Amino acid sequence: MCGIVGYIGNKRAAPIILAGLKRLEYRGYDSAGVSTIDGGALTMAKKAGKVADLERATTVSKTEGTIGIGHTRWATHGVPNDVNAHPHADSSDNIVLVHNGIIENYVTIKKKLTAQGYAFKSDTDSEVLAVFIGMLYKTFGNFEQAVRTALCEVEGTFGIVVMCAEHPDMLIAARRGSPLILGVGNDEYVVASDAAAIVSHTRQVVYLHENEMAIVTRNGFTTKTILDIETDPVIEEISIELEQIEKGGFPHFMLKEIFEQPTTFHDGFRGRLLVDEGNVRLGGLSTVTDRLLNAKRIIITACGTSWHAALIGEYLLENMARIPVEVEYASEFRYRNPIIDSSDVVIAISQSGETADTLSAIRLAKANGATVIGMVNVVGSSIARETDAGVYLHAGPEIGVASTKAFTSQLCVLTQFSLYMARTRGMSAETGREIATALEAIPEMIERILAKSDEVKEIARQYADASNFLYLGRGYNFPVALEGALKLKEISYIHAEGYPAAEMKHGPIALINENMPVVFIAPKDEIYEKVVSNIEEVRARQGKVIAIASESDDFIDTVANHVIKIPDTLPMLIPILASIPLQLLAYHIAVFRDCNVDMPRNLAKSVTVE
Ligand code: M6R
Repeated sequence: MCGIVGYIGNKRAAPIILAGLKRLEYRGYDSAGVSTIDGGALTMAKKAGKVADLERATTVSKTEGTIGIGHTRWATHGVPNDVNAHPHADSSDNIVLVHNGIIENYVTIKKKLTAQGYAFKSDTDSEVLAVFIGMLYKTFGNFEQAVRTALCEVEGTFGIVVMCAEHPDMLIAARRGSPLILGVGNDEYVVASDAAAIVSHTRQVVYLHENEMAIVTRNGFTTKTILDIETDPVIEEISIELEQIEKGGFPHFMLKEIFEQPTTFHDGFRGRLLVDEGNVRLGGLSTVTDRLLNAKRIIITACGTSWHAALIGEYLLENMARIPVEVEYASEFRYRNPIIDSSDVVIAISQSGETADTLSAIRLAKANGATVIGMVNVVGSSIARETDAGVYLHAGPEIGVASTKAFTSQLCVLTQFSLYMARTRGMSAETGREIATALEAIPEMIERILAKSDEVKEIARQYADASNFLYLGRGYNFPVALEGALKLKEISYIHAEGYPAAEMKHGPIALINENMPVVFIAPKDEIYEKVVSNIEEVRARQGKVIAIASESDDFIDTVANHVIKIPDTLPMLIPILASIPLQLLAYHIAVFRDCNVDMPRNLAKSVTVE
């Protein structure tokens, strides 16, 4: 969840690290810090708040030194203040590190170190690791051995970059459960938790594997496991472009990403959708075709927004392919001793590909013999690499903490996967063609909805001061209601709940009064009349109704206070279209409330801790 950058080369490290940290701030933004080695001594600057606060409050940008490390934090242990900010040094100010992850046995290690007379300045588990490595360095007199020995002792997860003032020409990076990428430039190296901090320096990267470390000097690098077994690093090319990780004239990444959806959705089916055949070609699944054909059931596991996409996937797969599907929160799945066997296919959905709970869930599924498929956005991420096969979302880098374009890309991929499964299980080519043709028309329909942004903004202005919101939908659109509510609460801090519309009468109806805005997803489908009855029930209790409705519906304006029309399409594709106005509604409300849309409080983009 935190952002890590390390640099070693011939240029001043601090400006490079600060620029990298700004690109990684979406991963965590409680506090930031930078350390370099200058003239054989450590420099240290750290501050609660954002990277810009660090730059304003310290002389960090003037710091000399051509080797350094930096960190932007999402607090796990200890409040976000200056002292708890990373980097953390050992008691001799010789060893210094930045850390992403959680050292689970830090209390035990801290007790042992305290008994030996070591003292600690912060409340963090990361400082314990720094002091531990410092103690081992004193014992062995060997920097690399000290790091390796410490990492073999610690339990939990880490992505770390470590420096030693007595070794000003060496950076050591290591990972377990937290991503780390080594960028290989010309006589310079950038280590980062995310390619966004590397791409302006080099496109050549090495993805570190679990329990692997890189020993990096100005002249080269080697990789080995923390058990000291040499490994063969594979240099790969990263595909992201610099402009993809910039705002491109939009006030926020979230708005930019909402407006990218016609393109990103199209990218999700380009080269895959075979409209004339009414089928789909998913090259990433070719190695598991037989196992998919023989699957008795599909389990989809994910967290947050990706879990909402999974719920829609359940409806799609069961309706189209008639195969039983279960959807599991990854965090629950891994701890409830689920029954899984080799006839199961487990699908993990994740934007980041690094979500700790989802990663653990797929490891459990693999250990039980299931075939594990990833539907992941970030190329080369841990989930992408640990699954048996997969389908990339191709949504491009998503920086806004609130997931938008990745969600619609997940629906794009899930629809195609369902169509592919359905065709192998007897769906006619004619029905397949009808679905493929409708899917192909979606990008242009998204464009038409985006053109209504100002209309949605005006509705947002009227409800920006609300304390609560209810989102209701049925069938395919119940998960859309959940997603609409999550979008609103995470960026505007308004309490919002999503429910199946028909469940309202079993409890939530008690909340309805003139102060309760209720968002209905009410397309013209087979349960439209039932949803309209629910709207009437809300109106009868003075609730305010905002309806997302079909363009062909001219009745709904007579019962709803506000109507946002979306193009008519197949019911199974409505969630894609209906989610766009809900993203815009949440965005505009958050802006009216002066909230930090791209970096909402307490959140981080990729949740790499349990
Ligand atoms: O990267 P993932 O898709 O695995 O992330 C899962 C959730 O953490 C994520 O969807 C989260 O709920 C977002 N903030 C929602 O906007």
